[in-house]
Amino acid sequence: MGSDFVRLALEGGSHEVVVLDALTYAGNLRNLQAVDSDARFHFVHGDICDQEVAGGAMAGCDAVVHFAAETHVDRSIRGDREFVRTNVEGTRVLLSAALEAGIERFLFVSTDEVYGQLPWRDPGTESTPAALARFRAGNEDFPTFFTEESPFRPRSPYAATKAAADHLALAYHHTHGLPVVVTRASNNYGPYQFPEKLIPLMIRQAIEGGELPVYGDGRNVRDWLFVRDHSRGVLGALERGEPGEAYNLGGLSERTNLEVVRGIVRELGVGEGRIRFIPDRPGHDARYALDPGKAERVLGWAPTTHFEEGLPATVRWYKKNEAWWKRAGQADARR
Ligand SMILES: NC(=O)c1ccc[n+]([C@@H]2O[C@H](COP(=O)([O-])OP(=O)(O)OC[C@H]3O[C@@H](n4cnc5c(N)ncnc54)[C@H](O)[C@@H]3O)[C@@H](O)[C@H]2O)c1
Repeated sequence: MGSDFVRLALEGGSHEVVVLDALTYAGNLRNLQAVDSDARFHFVHGDICDQEVAGGAMAGCDAVVHFAAETHVDRSIRGDREFVRTNVEGTRVLLSAALEAGIERFLFVSTDEVYGQLPWRDPGTESTPAALARFRAGNEDFPTFFTEESPFRPRSPYAATKAAADHLALAYHHTHGLPVVVTRASNNYGPYQFPEKLIPLMIRQAIEGGELPVYGDGRNVRDWLFVRDHSRGVLGALERGEPGEAYNLGGLSERTNLEVVRGIVRELGVGEGRIRFIPDRPGHDARYALDPGKAERVLGWAPTTHFEEGLPATVRWYKKNEAWWKRAGQADARR
């Protein structure tokens, strides 16, 4: 997601960008190949938990956009140490370095997962925009959506570390006056996503002839946001967001996991017989869905790529860029 944001920020023409990235298993400099000859792009290889490195990377910058994180829920269940270190301590280091450097705007990229889970509903019976309209009209019992005022009830170690970091970022605003803005987005998908997340993992499995493992009964609902729409929302919040405020960047495209996998199978013309239901993830959130009304009103932002276009475009990208994801997968397997 960070590399897409960098491409967008440089396309706009008015920004110069310094990227600080530790290039963990999920990081890949090739994702930035399109901009690496641009004189306005600079890369620093380093860890956000190192205050000196963080302060050095920020020198001369007027804004910080903090994407760096450990992000995969399954990994956080297997071991949470790196999640606490990078997501909580790393965020603390960046906030304190930003305060020291007099940074004029600090954007923290948070997630919908800080809110926990919503009661399940079947997105097949009513589209997200229609259900959201009912929610906004005052039907607060059902269906429900998260607003920026919803309480934090994170349920996975990953979500708990993002919630801690989100609180810490806003505390730096309230306590120290650091101009912090927070975005909380739905599940992203699109080109260059590391093939451990649902959509690229399923595309990879389908192309390579393997099974497509789906947790539980596949009915868990996620709201999908195309990565470029996310980048536009982050840039909008950076440029027009109010310090001390958070903005939900919702995709208005809820789908059950099974529907998503069936969509990929259809796009690639492989049989549904390859789908395998496996034991559910512990604490698997039933449903996420965001009300992006505040981002629409204040930032003038709305998602523009509908899932019905974004999914085929993503499948096409992975088909065309097999070498990219095969290399990414190999780097991961070596760890
Ligand atoms: N993927 C989603 O659906 C989604 C949705 C909402 C919010 N987010 C948030 O967006 C951000 C980016 O997510 P992503 O899916 O692109 O993540 P990712 O796991 O694909 O990439 C994370 C990046 O952070 C870097 N990194 C990790 N630890 C670091 C450290 N200690 N120092 C410096 N760099 C480090 C990695 O090298 C990698 O480039 C995260 O903060 C995540 O919580 C993601």
